[in-house]
Formats: sequence, structure tokens, C-alpha cells
Amino acid sequence: MEEFKHIPVLLNEVIDGLKIKKDGIYIDCTIGGGGHSEQILKRLSSKGHLYGIDKDEDALLACKERLKGYKNLILIHSDYKDAHEILLEKGVESFDGLLIDLGVSSYQLDTAGRGFSFLREGHLDMRMDKSQGIDAYFVVNNYPREKLLEILYKYGEEANAKRIVDNIIKQREIKPIETTIELKDIIEASFPKKVIYGKGGVSKKTFQAIRIEVNGELIGLEEAIEKYIKMLKPGGRMAIITFHSLEDRIVKNVFKREATDCICPPKTPVCICGHKKTINLVNKKPITASESELSLNPRSSSAKLRIIEKL
Ligand SMILES: C[S@@+](CC[C@H](N)C(=O)[O-])C[C@H]1O[C@@H](n2cnc3c(N)ncnc32)[C@H](O)[C@@H]1O
Repeated sequence: MEEFKHIPVLLNEVIDGLKIKKDGIYIDCTIGGGGHSEQILKRLSSKGHLYGIDKDEDALLACKERLKGYKNLILIHSDYKDAHEILLEKGVESFDGLLIDLGVSSYQLDTAGRGFSFLREGHLDMRMDKSQGIDAYFVVNNYPREKLLEILYKYGEEANAKRIVDNIIKQREIKPIETTIELKDIIEASFPKKVIYGKGGVSKKTFQAIRIEVNGELIGLEEAIEKYIKMLKPGGRMAIITFHSLEDRIVKNVFKREATDCICPPKTPVCICGHKKTINLVNKKPITASESELSLNPRSSSAKLRIIEKL
């Protein structure tokens, strides 16, 4: 395995925001390279515990090594959206804090063989969990035109989706599209030469869209957050970092709803929903990276952190 490199994003803001209790129980839903977790562990006494979840076994292996000095770390190989029951089985009915740092790690992006990056040649894979069936190769070579279009519009907000998808279909009728660079070349050929399409080049949105589809990144996010809010202890804190507007919108809306007493449609004369707020928003606007962080880690530029506290 290559060295696991990942600079944790908004590290101080997350650690301050979680207000860590030394004897508390904490969940890191996306432990990755363990950067955030290490700082949480440093603040825990021997009575405190941290459960670190990831669906990428490479991340868990890296954390096992990096954090081997900490006896109170429990690693779990799972999608965090399915981990509620696993936690219950381990006797964790409630906890003091939880972090979700969404998206991919730099390790995943930088490892050519994982197939996440249009800058590195690799088999079209993009699976965070390598034991899962569907990969990017399957999506690109088998999904019907309409489904591909929908993904590029919805998950990539790609205005040029039609041309890209038509070119993918044309190419795959000749031979399957096997590598990240083959896909990148097809995407680039779908744009006029003079177009410079923001940061990251013209392939960025399509790669993001396919990655979101392969890993089901937006499916079940809302429900998972709701379940975890229920498991938070009173006064407990939850921090979520997102990297694109689709995810942030979901997080913002769940938090807003849970921080509101009545959620009846506007103009309803008397409340009929009976909804009671369960959380307070710690920050109304998302926290973003400081100038100094941006200069050290450009990947922090799209990060948005939202924090809530359970009532
Ligand atoms: C941005 S990285 C986390 C980095 C980490 N906070 C650190 O400091 O090193 C995101 C990680 O979340 C994992 N991940 C993404 N979606 C997941 C999911 N639904 N369930 C479990 N892990 C997930 C990815 O495999 C990746 O390792």
C-alpha cells in the first residue's frame, strides 16, 4: 500500500467545535487517514472512546498503524450510513460527539490504481469500498444514455452533459472505456478547445458525478444524520464537513429542520406538525478555511463545516 497522505481539513475548527469531553464517547464516521481522530484521541482520557468508521479498508489499515498507541480506538469497516446498528451491537446507544468529513481522501485521489483522478492513469474504479460490486467502469460502459445524463446533470451540475454522454456512448460502441485518461480524453473532446472551465479542468464535474453515483454518496445521507442526531447525548456536538453544494444543501436542511419547533408549511394558521426542535445550530453560516489553511492545502477551498449541539 502506498503511504496514506491526507491533510485534515478545518482541523482546529472541528476540534474546537466538538468541545471534547475527556471521558466522552466519540464517533468519526469517515476516519480516512486519522488526522481528525488523532486530535480527538489526544484529548480523551483512558475512560473515553473513539469509534472510527470507514468503508475503505486502506484507510482503516493506515489508521491502525498511525494510531496504534491508542487503546481506546475501535475501528469499524462499514458505510457510516449502516453503522448505527453496529454501534448499538457494541453497546454504544448514545455518544458525546460525532464527525463526518465527507468526500474522498487525498490518498484515494492520488493513488492512480483507485481510479478517482483524471490526472492519473488507472482502471476506472472509484469505489471507496473495494468489496462493492459496481465501479466506474460499469457505470460508464453499461448505464443507459438517460441515466448517464441524469447523473451528470444532477451530481455534476454539468451543463455540457449531452455532448459528453453522446461521446461516451459513441466511444463505448467501438470499445469499452477502460481508464481514467481515456474518459478524460473523451470529456475534453466534448468541449471547444478554447474553453477553460474553472479550476480543475473540464473533467472535474463528470468525474465528481460518476464518483457520487458509484459510492451512493448522497443516498441516505439525510436519514443517517437524523438517526445520529437521535443518538447524540444532550449537550453533545456533531460536526459535518462537505465539499460540494449538493451535500451541503442536504446537511443544511436537516440541521435547519431539527433546529426548528414547527415545520408546518408556511401560512398554516395553527401548527399541526407538533415538531419540536432537538438541536441548536452552533454556527448559522458554514465555517470555511482560513487564508493560511487555503495557502497550505488547496483542497480545503470547497470545504464547509456545520456544527450543531443537541438539546
Ligand atoms: C475526506 S476523507 C476523511 C479524512 C479524515 N478526516 C482525516 O483527517 O484523515 C473521507 C473518508 O471518508 C470515507 N467515506 C466516504 N463516504 C463514506 C461512507 N459513506 N461510509 C464510510 N466511509 C466513507 C472515505 O473512504 C475517506 O476515507
